[in-house]
Amino acid sequence: MFQTTGALDKPLQPKEIKHSSFAQDIIKGLSATHKYLDAKYFYDTKGDALFQKIMQCNEYYLTDCEMEILANKKEQIVTAILAHFQSFDLIELGAGDATKSIHLLSELLQQGADYTYYPIDISHNVIAHLEEKLPSLLPNIKMHGLHGEYATMLDNPTLSNDRPKVILFLGANIGNSTVEEALAFCRNLKKNLRKGDLLLIGFDLRKDPHIILNAYNDSKGYTKAFNLNLLQRINHELNANFQINNFEHYPIYNPQTGSCKSYLISKVRQEVILKEIDFTILLDAHEAIFMEISQKYSPEEILRLAKQSGFKETNQFLDQNKWFQDSLWMVE
Ligand code: AVJ
Repeated sequence: MFQTTGALDKPLQPKEIKHSSFAQDIIKGLSATHKYLDAKYFYDTKGDALFQKIMQCNEYYLTDCEMEILANKKEQIVTAILAHFQSFDLIELGAGDATKSIHLLSELLQQGADYTYYPIDISHNVIAHLEEKLPSLLPNIKMHGLHGEYATMLDNPTLSNDRPKVILFLGANIGNSTVEEALAFCRNLKKNLRKGDLLLIGFDLRKDPHIILNAYNDSKGYTKAFNLNLLQRINHELNANFQINNFEHYPIYNPQTGSCKSYLISKVRQEVILKEIDFTILLDAHEAIFMEISQKYSPEEILRLAKQSGFKETNQFLDQNKWFQDSLWMVE
């Protein structure tokens, strides 16, 4: 006899139907053969604060490097943009507190650009804060904050108009994707843009492996706390009982693939219960939960990514150490 499918055998329980996408993603990751959690969930209020601390650590060089580029090369960057068009929409994906992009925003006004700034961020707080702060710093700015996940926000009706687009995707946020995922992301971005539109995108470059690894293993322990905070978030939001002291922060950098990956390692065999969703997991001693990838690129790999996703790299802006690169790409 033919068997019915599992889905028909087991109708969804009311409790399962109402699971938030957070709960669903956590269940999916913790049920996988190789357990994982999604790095986008690091950024709750405590996670935002810990990330600020990470950015201030000596070992975490990325922010300083990109800040140096934007502060020292803002004239060249803006000149390169305005060589294409003077009037455009400026869309920032994952704007954060805009401390980096403000250099560009003010230089663009200085050089007479006519633009509307659309910062996009998943954090409500961030957008509210920007809408309050930016007009006092830059009185002539036209802006309109958008709250949402930037991966899907380009479909927003506010942005579907005929004006040329300049996209800012700074901070090496692209590094939180594998090279394959990054390619899919850039191809999708390109589909939402038109020929001639521009993208300013930040990459952390390959360098001495020790420097990279230390950036994800700071001596004050903020990166460790940042990773453990996601377990605490699950404890709070899904009524779970992760014992934080039973986990070790374990980052590794592979100098051949360029990927830096962070894991939390279970120190003991342990059971964790997520009461809110009636879900129990068993972790073996030394079992790992994969938390985050921070992919590093060479300038050649960046060129290849541009090409394969339908962009042309028109300019490269680097810091003095050549540790970080902001690339200007144009849709071909
Ligand atoms: C915000 C994704 C660029 O991967 O370097 C910092 C996040 N994680 N320390 C990075 C992060 C641990 C950061 N990005």
